[in-house]
Amino acid sequence: STGLPDVRERTLVAIKPDGVQRRLVGQIIQRFEQRGFKLVGLKMLQASQDVLSEHYCNLRTKPFYNSLVRYMTSGPLVVMVWEGHNVVQTSRTMVGHTNPAQAQAGTVRGDFSIHVSRNVIHASDSVEGAQKEIQLWFQAKDLLDWNCWDQISTG
Ligand code: PPS
Repeated sequence: STGLPDVRERTLVAIKPDGVQRRLVGQIIQRFEQRGFKLVGLKMLQASQDVLSEHYCNLRTKPFYNSLVRYMTSGPLVVMVWEGHNVVQTSRTMVGHTNPAQAQAGTVRGDFSIHVSRNVIHASDSVEGAQKEIQLWFQAKDLLDWNCWDQISTG
């Protein structure tokens, strides 16, 4: 280890169909930018059953699995990759408890949702999970390398 903070850590954040439909995309992106994270990938899409069954592979046996997939395919998602020091853990804190009833005010779920079946947003729960999810949802070429970009913009 260099002793320096890992500023290149990345996580996957997805605004779920209820968040898109309720016009929360701008406010959610603003929270992550304002906190200091860098947006390195962004797309809006209708998720396929295949990608979702991979994304939620450890939930396939849960009683809520089918309704979760139905919800996640009910409209477009906004899927993003955010980068920065400790971004996985900090994003989870910003997103709030899975069950909105237990999510604190000031978190996305604590401010914008009331039920786990419509909890507005997803964020990866670990660094390893984030790497898998980023690979599942994005091609490497579609993620920005801010180091290159900073060199261009500063000459
Ligand atoms: S578990 O049972 O502990 O593994 O589940 P949990 O970590 O709490 O949640 C995993 C994801 O499932 C979603 N979830 C639900 N969706 C719809 N309906 C119900 N009842 C429900 N319960 C849990 C929860 O939002 C998590 O999804 P993500 O996208 O990761 O937030």
